[in-house]
Amino acid sequence: MQQRKLGPYTVSAIGLGCMGLSHGYGIAPERKRAERLLNRALERGYTFLDTAAVYGAGANETLIGEVLGKRRDEFVLATKCGLRRDGEGRRVIDGRPTSLKRSCEESLKRLKTEAIDLCYLHRLDKRVPIEDSVGALGELVEAGKVKSIGLSEVSVPTLIRAHAVHPISAVQSEYSLWTRNPEIAMLAACRQLDITFVAFAPLGRAFLTGTLRDPTRLVDDDLRRTMPRFRPENFFLNLDLVDRLVEIAGDVGCSPAQLALAWLLGKGDDIVPIPGTTDEAHLAENAAAVDLQVPPGTFARLDRLINETTVAGERYAPHIQMQLDTEEFGPPPVRL
Ligand SMILES: NC(=O)c1ccc[n+]([C@@H]2O[C@H](COP(=O)([O-])OP(=O)(O)OC[C@H]3O[C@@H](n4cnc5c(N)ncnc54)[C@H](OP(=O)(O)O)[C@@H]3O)[C@@H](O)[C@H]2O)c1
Repeated sequence: MQQRKLGPYTVSAIGLGCMGLSHGYGIAPERKRAERLLNRALERGYTFLDTAAVYGAGANETLIGEVLGKRRDEFVLATKCGLRRDGEGRRVIDGRPTSLKRSCEESLKRLKTEAIDLCYLHRLDKRVPIEDSVGALGELVEAGKVKSIGLSEVSVPTLIRAHAVHPISAVQSEYSLWTRNPEIAMLAACRQLDITFVAFAPLGRAFLTGTLRDPTRLVDDDLRRTMPRFRPENFFLNLDLVDRLVEIAGDVGCSPAQLALAWLLGKGDDIVPIPGTTDEAHLAENAAAVDLQVPPGTFARLDRLINETTVAGERYAPHIQMQLDTEEFGPPPVRL
């Protein structure tokens, strides 16, 4: 696979999002299938794997550690700290230095590794100055337990403050045809600071693949059930957009998933999408998007078709949106 630069690393231009192997979209695949998929990913040239402490309450990291522990030198391993579920399954954002350090120690054990290549702060904790959270991760770098630091779903002011404390190698946020928020300011900021942008949910959580046709059939604990865009009143409006994406992909001679990934790759060679899959055929299909030859004008057509003005519904429910570090909700706290 083609390569892209990410902090001190060179990684496959498309990475593998591992979340769905343990968490998120209904029933996780059985263990043997997950094992095969992870091994096959390395064989297909994926050298950048993404997980988090919160995925499956540690189960996703455990899976990667157990399955790929012996192949640890074949990939760059990214995980995240600072977000967990409490006893009742509620999301808890906790960016306190002691919590982050404890979480990373636990991740190291589950991942069966000496060091985390890239450790993201999963969410800004609005009660904790970013300087303190990143300072704790910086101490883990000094101790050799973490090799580089990333941030997920932060605002530009937070990124700038964090980068002043310790160099940030990557920002990971949702970015795809139907989620354009990073285009407002974050992509430009990352370019200015020489930070790689990692695009999560690059397939719109399967929406952009054209294979999800009826959200009412999602299982009860599928995360998408909580997301306004997947509510029937919005979803069926959005389906018109994806039907036209399917047509354009047909003209190009590729799948809609491949076109959605190629569109992201075409936005800059400092962008690394990390599609998630539990399916070996999709794994191969997504990797092949890197070599797609897209006729001139296609991306402009896509830009006009699917963007923030044509998509119905917000990406998150209000209570989750409120937790995000967006400038609209005011700057994060400054230490007194
Ligand atoms: N930082 C954060 O807060 C955050 C949040 C969410 C996700 N992430 C990371 O980003 C990764 C990717 O995001 P995501 O998994 O949420 O969403 P995604 O990559 O946009 O979509 C994944 C969905 O698309 C389907 N899919 C994948 N390739 C396909 C193809 N070629 N054809 C048809 N369907 C296909 C998958 O089903 P199959 O299994 O059937 O292929 C799965 O349902 C995650 O795994 C996780 O590591 C980070």
